[in-house]
Amino acid sequence: MNGSGSVVVTGGAGFIGSHVASLLQQRDRQPIVLDNLQSGNPSNLQRDVPLIVDDAGRIDAWPTAARNASAIVHLAAMPAVQDTVERPLESHTANFVLTQHLVEAARRYGIPRIVYASTAAVYGNTGQAEQHEDDATDPLTPYAIDKHAGERYLRFAAEQYGLETVTLRFFNVYGPRQNPSSPYSGVLTQFSSRLIRNQPIVIYGDGQQTRDFVYVGDVAQVVVDAATQASRWPAGPINVGTGTSVDLLQVVGVFSDLLGRAPQVQHEPARTGDVRDSKANVDRLHAAWGNTPQTSLRDGLHALIDWMQTPAQG
Ligand SMILES: NC(=O)c1ccc[n+]([C@@H]2O[C@H](COP(=O)([O-])OP(=O)(O)OC[C@H]3O[C@@H](n4cnc5c(N)ncnc54)[C@H](O)[C@@H]3O)[C@@H](O)[C@H]2O)c1
Repeated sequence: MNGSGSVVVTGGAGFIGSHVASLLQQRDRQPIVLDNLQSGNPSNLQRDVPLIVDDAGRIDAWPTAARNASAIVHLAAMPAVQDTVERPLESHTANFVLTQHLVEAARRYGIPRIVYASTAAVYGNTGQAEQHEDDATDPLTPYAIDKHAGERYLRFAAEQYGLETVTLRFFNVYGPRQNPSSPYSGVLTQFSSRLIRNQPIVIYGDGQQTRDFVYVGDVAQVVVDAATQASRWPAGPINVGTGTSVDLLQVVGVFSDLLGRAPQVQHEPARTGDVRDSKANVDRLHAAWGNTPQTSLRDGLHALIDWMQTPAQG
């Protein structure tokens, strides 16, 4: 299914969603953003992007324009993992029940395709250096459990209702517009935010834990292509990472190069439950998309630091 209709972006005023909305516009596809602004912000969006401030699960809030939509990009969620541990019932509503509502909206409005934001957290602590989609899953938090349930529900919706579903398991997404004031924002955003203020950064453990950091602009391209291009996107989960990983000490080295000075680092004891190694196997992404994310960590961090230094962020 290709289609030329609009694309409904739930959570489109958030970090990843705002990049998705602007890329849709650049490609002359109309985004319709549905966001309750729980963690999103209208200032993330260009002024001419239609924004409906409401709960994406309240189907009556959906505009008539949704009837012409060719896809839903479902990013709305409660992504702060620690919050979901404290408030698991809220997580269930935001991270799972909302996905069921989206399926109902797709059925009601005849929207054929849903692109779903899942997470590498569904793998849990595999003990392996690399995660493949066929690996056993072991979601360890309400966030990961609910996201995993959402994946299974979409598989059901594909089989039962004939919806086209694309499930993307994002690894560590970073880049401009990730909220630096949130204690749960990604480690690169937290590091950048402290470093540009000349404050020390904190590393838990030995700093040799590895992550697959993927630039938000690359993620937006995958999402938009999955929503708008007829292709070989399989219904099963697809990792969205770079296929390479770096440890936090290497990250400090890149910051040091970019800033022209060595960051001050405080070491704290390792936190229980932290995943040791995370790296996406990207064979399936490559087969579906024809490419893998290409932005280097250096270029991505450069863009992040530039954004943080713009006056609006100060
Ligand atoms: N950032 C990452 O590294 C990462 C990694 C894996 C998965 N994800 C997933 O990607 C998606 C986007 O994450 P993000 O980092 O951009 O987070 P974000 O908090 O910036 O965006 C989430 C958006 O959803 C909105 N929202 C929440 N509940 C809503 C509701 N009921 N109705 C309408 N809007 C609602 C929020 O206001 C916010 O704008 C999430 O589903 C998240 O779980 C993100």
